[in-house]
Amino acid sequence: MKNEKRNETVSVLISAEQISARVKALAAGITRDYAGHQVTLVCTLKGAVIFLADLAREIKLDVQLEFVKVSSYDDKARSEGDIKLDYPSKLDIKGRHVIIVEDIVDMGYTARWLQGYMKEFSPASVRLCALLDKPERRKVQGVEIEYLGFKIPDKFVVGYGMDYAQRYRNLPYVGVLQIDEDEVSK
Ligand code: IMP
Ligand code: MG
Repeated sequence: MKNEKRNETVSVLISAEQISARVKALAAGITRDYAGHQVTLVCTLKGAVIFLADLAREIKLDVQLEFVKVSSYDDKARSEGDIKLDYPSKLDIKGRHVIIVEDIVDMGYTARWLQGYMKEFSPASVRLCALLDKPERRKVQGVEIEYLGFKIPDKFVVGYGMDYAQRYRNLPYVGVLQIDEDEVSK
């Protein structure tokens, strides 16, 4: 897809069909692993919302949904990896089997912070499910992704919930965004 006005091109990296097949397989794994239990999916807004919607509908268990929104501090005085909680201050997950649903694990700061935050509310267990993983970019060691969609190379991706400047979230596929800087500066 080429956005002529903005000199941005998105090329398909993972098609809608590939995503759908993988999401079904992840959901089948979760259904098997948590048989006889309830699970609480904790969706990280906004990027994981489309993944969550597809995943939740394929899980054949009693499923609860919770949402959190976190962001990185822009403040340069803070150290890299500081995470700020935007919503909510309290999660209803006491005694629950929690699966954090993330769009992408990049440096790993967000996932590590979320795992720690969940534990404050005494859940029965906490696991991580991410659609994408960029292992080359990892700064935090020991972030284990129990349910992973795809490993991808170090490229900036958009679509299937993920954005660039709040755009492209509604693309049905995951694509690599390329911005033609020369064109922009003309
Ligand atoms: P981390 O703390 O570096 O692992 O950051 C993970 C978060 O950064 C993800 O949940 C995304 O919101 C965002 N992010 C990282 N890489 C990309 C990308 O390629 N496209 C869109 N968002 C990204
Ligand atoms: Mg995210």
